[in-house]
Amino acid sequence: MKHIVRIGDVSKGEIEQLFTSARNMRDLLAKNTLSRRLEGKILTALFYEPSSRTFGSFIAAMQRLGGGVIPIQGVAYSSVAKGETLEDTIATFSKLSDAIVLRHPQEGAAAIAAKASSVPVINAGDGVGEHPTQALLDLFTIRDHFEDLSNITVTLVGDLLYGRTVHSLLQLFGLFPPKKIILVSPDALRMPESLVAPTMHQTNQLDEALGETDVLYVTRVQKERFEDPASYDAVKDSFHITKETLEKVKPTAIIMHPFPRVNEIALEVDADSRAVYLREQIANGLYVRMAILDYIFTQ
Ligand code: NCD
Repeated sequence: MKHIVRIGDVSKGEIEQLFTSARNMRDLLAKNTLSRRLEGKILTALFYEPSSRTFGSFIAAMQRLGGGVIPIQGVAYSSVAKGETLEDTIATFSKLSDAIVLRHPQEGAAAIAAKASSVPVINAGDGVGEHPTQALLDLFTIRDHFEDLSNITVTLVGDLLYGRTVHSLLQLFGLFPPKKIILVSPDALRMPESLVAPTMHQTNQLDEALGETDVLYVTRVQKERFEDPASYDAVKDSFHITKETLEKVKPTAIIMHPFPRVNEIALEVDADSRAVYLREQIANGLYVRMAILDYIFTQ
């Protein structure tokens, strides 16, 4: 049984296989020739935290392949509101479905769920921990532009302390190393030490990195992780990407963001051909999640 709780749960070979499958899903979807290969399978999408893209794309992925879903978004209407434990909820949906996608505010929740589950568990974000499927769709997007990562510079910008997408992505770069990684954040939101290698560059000055960057990965300051509003307010507008910022970025670079954005990227940037967050990342999320579900159900 295959759980995907953290990036470490997928090997380099499996990732290459998933990407080949995702490209295939993309072609079949474009030609409208997808088979209903997951017919009869049911996925529980159990989301204890807000989500639009991840929730929507897992459900769309399942349905595109002919499968069914039990969508549970928000705990107000589930038995969790009555005090049910995560383990009991997971044990229940293990009996009602063939896999569970879980988003939960607590780091480590997906690992607890995997232990309690008799079906595969996919982590769709566990607090400030990881978000492995986002990292996979991010790498898939990067690889579409740069087949060989060994000569590109990737700059991660924003809330590197609490942003789980960058925690997973940075670990994924351990398997697919770029030439250079630059970590740009306010001092209070630096990447956790345990994830930083000596070869990575850390700074609080975005300007220092722009000229050499091939992939500019921008993140939202994770308001919901702050204990008091004043410390959020102090860092919330640290970086704001505008047309003017892009003048310093290579014409061949790409601008990414896992979304939702708050104020990190001005709307005027969306029309720039380098901005791939709306044009590519969201659709790639669908293809990669189709590939992941197909792999989990048919391996
Ligand atoms: C991210 C998340 O939930 O971690 N969203 C997503 O799944 N694309 C990023 C965020 O909330 O800032």
